[in-house]
Formats: sequence, structure tokens, C-alpha cells
Amino acid sequence: MCGIIGFIGDENVTPIIVKGLRRMEYRGYDSAGLSIRTNEGLRVIKSVGKINDLANVEDLNAISGYTGIGHTRWATHGKVNLENAHPLSSCAGEMSVVHNGIISNFQTLKKELEKEGHTFRSSTDSEVIIHLFEKYFKIGNDIKDAVLKTVNRLEGSFAFAIMLRDGEDIVGARCGTPLILGLGNNGNFLTSDILGFIEYTDKAIFLENKEIVVLGKHHFEISDFEGNLVAKEVTQVAWEFGTPTKEKYSHFTLKEILEQPLALERVISQDQKPIDLFCKKLKTRAKVVITGSGTSYHAGLYAKYVMRETAKISCDVVVSSEFKSQDVDHDTSVLVLSQSGETADALRATQIAKDAGCQVLSIVNVVGSSLARESDISLPLNCGPEVGVAATKSFTSQLALIYIIASRIGIGDDSLITSIPQKVESILGEAERIKKLVNGYTEARDFYYIARSIHIPIALEGALKMKELSYVHAEGMAAGELKHGPLALITQGTPVVVINPTDDSYQETLDNVVELKARGAKVIGISTVSHEVYDDFIPIPKVHPLLSPIIEVVPLQLLAYYAAVKMGQDPDYPRNLAKSVTVN
Ligand code: G6P
Repeated sequence: MCGIIGFIGDENVTPIIVKGLRRMEYRGYDSAGLSIRTNEGLRVIKSVGKINDLANVEDLNAISGYTGIGHTRWATHGKVNLENAHPLSSCAGEMSVVHNGIISNFQTLKKELEKEGHTFRSSTDSEVIIHLFEKYFKIGNDIKDAVLKTVNRLEGSFAFAIMLRDGEDIVGARCGTPLILGLGNNGNFLTSDILGFIEYTDKAIFLENKEIVVLGKHHFEISDFEGNLVAKEVTQVAWEFGTPTKEKYSHFTLKEILEQPLALERVISQDQKPIDLFCKKLKTRAKVVITGSGTSYHAGLYAKYVMRETAKISCDVVVSSEFKSQDVDHDTSVLVLSQSGETADALRATQIAKDAGCQVLSIVNVVGSSLARESDISLPLNCGPEVGVAATKSFTSQLALIYIIASRIGIGDDSLITSIPQKVESILGEAERIKKLVNGYTEARDFYYIARSIHIPIALEGALKMKELSYVHAEGMAAGELKHGPLALITQGTPVVVINPTDDSYQETLDNVVELKARGAKVIGISTVSHEVYDDFIPIPKVHPLLSPIIEVVPLQLLAYYAAVKMGQDPDYPRNLAKSVTVN
């Protein structure tokens, strides 16, 4: 999703903005741009494609100034092209804006502003922000007053930063998507992501919804949308946000898959007291509803099984984009799962839950994220920064923490999990086998993933990884559902991945594999025991059935990763996707 950065200080701003944009690259984007306040006015440089492409447009070293804003755009309104890339400028080009979110009433505002003589150059919703600001600034010549008048006309979600040719300060506002101040010794930052400034300072202030900020070199003023000053706490940002690098690995995604034993160790060995408090709180309401998006939703589906089996709690799981007030009441604990803690759908679900009087508990990786701050209680995943757009280590960490919580509530003992990091390590030893196996499937246009019971979320997650990383169509499903439709899609050579460890559902799933084989499917078996019915086989170690999903997903992540590499895709930045989806 869009990344925003602004800096005002004593150092040349251009390299600082470019570096900040690079750090936020992982969020996913299709174009980039920056605006620098120079002696000759605002210099706006934009390009479609990667941040590195900006240097092909102009010699960035030749542009210097002390105030600047930058943006990585993930298109929502308007095509991916230069006109729609941010920063967007006012009519005379003396003001620039960068925006993340969606202005839902932009058409009405655009018509009104065009009638008043404003000229629009893009087909984005964002451009109305700068024209509104321009209109109000011209009336009062007051940056705070102009931004207050602007935000009170906007509907939808937004975080934006505006800078002017004729004035040093940057002004920003937040309503629904994150905006963070970084307070440095040589200047101040305004970004959508801590990674935008972490190299320079660990002192942060998180803006809340409906707050604006006027930011100077060594000062800042935060107000609500009525203009009343708001006192804020400075947060010390933890080491987890440090600079992730690929190290010796070809991609972040591979590094993060291989890091899973370590990430799991961190989950298991984290401070026990907050976990106990979390378990206690979860039980204080009669009903439990779990929500999340994408991979986090799949972790929620796993939670349903493990909560039922171990904690004897029956939960509903609702995908965040479909979460409705009817799903909960005031006697509900809502457990929100999210790696980033910034997914708009998950935040919207959180708000619905809060409005309904529910207790909100969350599990997030990014400490200090909006979700962590908006929850009544939040547990960190502690798995370190995840850069690859497709979630990998955050998923296995979510499963591990969910298992720990359910086991503590249910039997007061989660010790079985201590063997899991080592078991995951042993599967990673299969990486070369999986890499070779991919060669037999390069022509496949469809993959199916089947499983039963607690393994179904892993079938769904395996298919999601394949879609995200390799762009090959993939579907995960309950094995028992094959005969109700999907079998019609099976022809000679159709790849089907079957997740089938030897537990209660083993034989039934094997029977489904036989049915698939009879129709020509080419089956990849993931199991604790080999069988002649599998065309290819990936062995996994035998563990307790409730822990097995943590193990099973790893070969599926590797399968999708190697398929993507084989097909020439960039697994770290899949097309059209974003790590942190901050629009509904
Ligand atoms: C995006 C990512 C997915 C992720 C989902 C939820 O769509 O591309 O990989 O699973 O968001 O993210 P969250 O940070 O809330 O877990």
C-alpha cells in the first residue's frame, strides 16, 4: 500500500526521502515520487515502476533542500501512470501532497473545485486534497486553519502530508490510515511506517484518527479536527523495527521461510505473564469471535479447531472484510489477528467490535501498530520484521501463539510445542527436494490443495501462497468437498497437493486421493508416511495433530516460493499486492 514520508530538518532531505521510500518498498507499490523545497521552488520528480527509476528521471544528487515529501503509490483510483503518481500539486505548483487512503466524496469535491477554477491533472481521488488546501490557504494564509478546513470536507480514509514552497513546515492529517511522527536530533519525520525513519530516530509519536500535525524542524503541534491542541506521549520504538536485510539470501521471502525455527523459538520463549493475562481476559466473555484477513484469517480458522479441541471454547471465525455488528454482542471477546496491525479491514472490524461493546484482544507482529493500540489487550508475535509481501514466518508464529493460548486455557500445559522449532528445521532440509520437484509442474495452470479437519486452513494457506507468489491459479478445499463439484476440474496431470498426516482423518483423505488418481490427477503428498498413490512425496515429521499444521505449511511455502522463482516472478513483491493493505 501507499507509503508516505516527509522530512524537515538540518540535513539535505533528498537522500533521506529516497532511503525512507526504499525501506517502505516492501509495502507494495507501482509508482514513486518526491517533492523537494529548493531555492527555485518545489521540485517534483515522479516515475512509474521502482524507486530506483526516479534516478533515471533526474539526477537526484543535484536536488537539495531541507524540506521534502515522498510517496510510493499503490493504485486505487486512476491508472498506474505518471500523472497519477504522487506528489500531486496545486494549480500553480507551489504546494504538494502525498496521500494514502481513499477519499470517497472526491467526485463531488472535484466538481465543486473545478467550477471554482481549479485545474486537475490526474484522475486520482487524492488530488482534491491539495486543491481544497490551496483554496483555504489562499483565504487565510494559515497552514493549520487550511488543513482543518480541508479535513472537515473529506470523507473516507486518509493519511496525508502537504508541503509548501512559501513556508517551511509540513502539515499532515490522519483519519483511518496510519501516520507517525519521528522526532530526530537533526529534524523531524512524518511517515506512514516506522521503517521510514528508524535509521535516524527511535522516538515516535503515533497520531490517532482525526488528528492533524504541523511539523517544523524542531517543533510540532498536534490538534484534533476541531483545532484543539492534543498532548501526546513519545514512544520509544523497539529494536524489532530495525533494518531488515536479505543477508545472503536471494529474497526476503526465502530468508523469512528459513528463519521460522528461530521465529518460533522467540514466540515460545516470550514473557509468560502477558500470555496468562491474555488467556484470562479471553475467557471473561461468553462468546469468542476471531477475525483477520488473508493469511491471518487462515490462522483464525486454525484457532477455531485448536480452541475447540483444547480449550473447549467454540468460536466463530469471520473474515475481517465481512465482519458485521450482527456477528457480535457486548458479551463477546473479539480476537483480531494481523501481522501488520494496520490492515484496514481488520481495523474496521475492531471498530465495529468496540462500538458493540465487545472486548478486543489482538495478536500482532508490529508492536505499536494501530491494532495493538486500539485493542484492550494485545500480544506481540515477536517474529521480527516480515518484509516479503506473502506472510510466512508470521503465520507459523500466529499458529504457535494460538496453540499456546488454547493449551493454557484448556489443559494449563503447552510444553508439547517446545519440539516444534526443531521439527520445522528438519523440514527445511527438504528445500532442495522441493526445488527439484517444482520442475515437474512448470506447465501447470491450476493447483488444488486438499485436506481434512484442522489441516484445511493449511490447504487454504498453501493455495494462497501459490497464487500470491507464482500467479498460478490455486484453490484450497476440504477433501470431502471434491465430490460436490471440484472433481469436474480434474483431468490428466492436474496437480493436487494433499496434506495428510497420519491422524484420524488419514484414511478418508487417502480414499479421496485414490478418487483423484482415478481421474488422472498428479498428486503431491505431504505426510508422515509415504504411499504408492502419491506421484511426489514430501515427508513431514509426526507431531501432535494440533501442532501438525505448523509443520505442514512449511513445504507449501517452499513449493510456492520455488515455483515463483522458476517462473521468473519476484516473490518478494508480487504484482498488484501489498504487504499492508490500508484501504477497505
Ligand atoms: C495483505 C497481504 C497478505 C496478508 C493480509 C493480512 O493482503 O498481502 O499477505 O495476509 O494483507 O495482513 P495482516 O498484516 O493483517 O496480517
